[in-house]
Amino acid sequence: MCGIIGILGKNDVAPSILAGLKRLEYRGYDSAGVATVMTGQLDRRRAPGKLSALEAVMEERPLGGPTGIGHTRWATHGAPTKTNAHPHATERVSVVHNGIIENFAELRQELIDNGAVFESETDAEVCPQLITHYLETQNCAPAEAFHNAIKRMRGAFAFAAIFSGEDDLMICARKGSPLAIGHGDGEMYLGSDAYALAPFTNRITYLDEGDWAVIRRAGVDIFDNGGKKVLRPETISSASAGIVEKDGHRHFMAKEIHEQPEVVAHTISRYVDPVSKTIKLPDGAFDFAALDRLTISACGTAFYAGQISKYWFERWAKLPVEVDIASELRYRDVPYTPNGGALFISQSGETADTLAALRDAKSYGQKIAAVINVPESSIARESDIIFPIAAGPEVGVASTKAFTCQLVALACIAIAAGRARGILTLQDEIEIVGALLETPRKLSEALKASGSIEKIAHDIAKAEDILYIGRGVSYPLAMEGALKLKEISYIHAEGYAAGELKHGPIALIDENLPVVVIAPLDAHFEKTVSNMQELMARGGKALLMSCKKGLQQAGDGIWTSIEIPETDNMLAPIVYAVPIQLLAYFTATTKGTDVDQPRNLAKSVTVE
Ligand code: F6R
Repeated sequence: MCGIIGILGKNDVAPSILAGLKRLEYRGYDSAGVATVMTGQLDRRRAPGKLSALEAVMEERPLGGPTGIGHTRWATHGAPTKTNAHPHATERVSVVHNGIIENFAELRQELIDNGAVFESETDAEVCPQLITHYLETQNCAPAEAFHNAIKRMRGAFAFAAIFSGEDDLMICARKGSPLAIGHGDGEMYLGSDAYALAPFTNRITYLDEGDWAVIRRAGVDIFDNGGKKVLRPETISSASAGIVEKDGHRHFMAKEIHEQPEVVAHTISRYVDPVSKTIKLPDGAFDFAALDRLTISACGTAFYAGQISKYWFERWAKLPVEVDIASELRYRDVPYTPNGGALFISQSGETADTLAALRDAKSYGQKIAAVINVPESSIARESDIIFPIAAGPEVGVASTKAFTCQLVALACIAIAAGRARGILTLQDEIEIVGALLETPRKLSEALKASGSIEKIAHDIAKAEDILYIGRGVSYPLAMEGALKLKEISYIHAEGYAAGELKHGPIALIDENLPVVVIAPLDAHFEKTVSNMQELMARGGKALLMSCKKGLQQAGDGIWTSIEIPETDNMLAPIVYAVPIQLLAYFTATTKGTDVDQPRNLAKSVTVE
């Protein structure tokens, strides 16, 4: 993770670097730093904590110079202290780094044996030390020293370096972590993504895997892994320069939860012809009739979206689907077939685990598709087909609107697969699409329960552990509910298949353990309610989420309930996601945790 920015400017660049870092804070926010070259001298400012801490430091001790790099960190090696904050530097070079250097321990020892003195516990510091070693002991020029250094490092990383005595030079490398070079008018930029560079330029060149580049104000020379000069295309980025605002909400997460009726409608409009009520997929999508197997993979919330879609692909398309978390997929001998397809789901499009799983599936000849929110991301660029969602920028670390939009796109793909495979009739398609078209309105209705959910959250906030249960499509949603709650309120929560409670977790039940029961009035309703009765008979506190009729039929003795609009049974997770998200949100606000930037997390997880 971590965000990198670099500028070769005309005036002092530190204020612009800070502005760029603000747009990269989603990648990590436990410490930050900026380094510049001013009249040949390297200098830097660093601070632990959020970017605001660095801003305060720089207000007191401003940093001049027209050449600079900046970094916002998500700690991997070493605690988030000032000493471990980037840029790391020697007198000769200052470096920012994103990713992990796997062989840092042996390199560090080798450098120490040669007289280097390290100040931090990070893996990143070997980079400036190694470059300095080549500059000083072998008299290399900066580019040669940089290239020699990256050749020695194993792992997945992106680097940017500036050098003392070099006002018109920045060198960078990409191996596993994305980097975008921005072209200005007599100025050049570097960023972890095009979004960070949007206030400065929309003319972007993306580095390919293994590329490294020497940037000067007049332009950039790019080299591949072997040191051969290569040309990479300049593209026009559509990333917006506007800063995303909270629009009157207390947190981005609240804003993003409330945006769902609108963004879900936008996503539906990308896939649905509202007149014929049929699905139109992007050109070049899978040949579903010929497909014999679909492998779906993703991480976290996106993985749960994939798990829900498995029920849809199996019901509507009778397509064999397997879903696995991306960080595990590669460690299995997945029996990929020549007519198989692989579908990856990612909001950011930069998740390292998902990207690695994608490359693995590609190496087995699978056609690769991605459900993606950021169309210029690495995952989008490496896929054969993109299924975009229209969630817009998601700033809150906890994924909310991207999840419901992913579900919409996945439902549309599954319906199209069902038609192509002759399982769904045109009439079936029209009916399911009709139900899908109602979801934005149902989401608006579901949001009206905010007030009552906030009250329930006051009690939930007192709990130390919480269970979520559901059956069928509600089972992955139970896991998503538990994830949402734990990541922003820090309350331990687990999601279970309702039928699984009696096989172990029921031993946990007592009057202090609330159980959130997700029970739309579907074919599984009665069985789920029986599971709820089993836990209530043992003193458990049940919070039932169902529609009005469901709540009436569920019987007495329920601790509390949340009424959800009646929905289509298969599409229920799209609507039930709202109370799940609001419950987590209000529990976190009651506890006073940092909702948008919860501890230890980052929005874009670019390390494996
Ligand atoms: C949870 C959350 C994470 C992400 C996961 C994948 O609220 O946001 O679990 O869903 O890190 O991220 P993307 O979708 O960007 O690949």
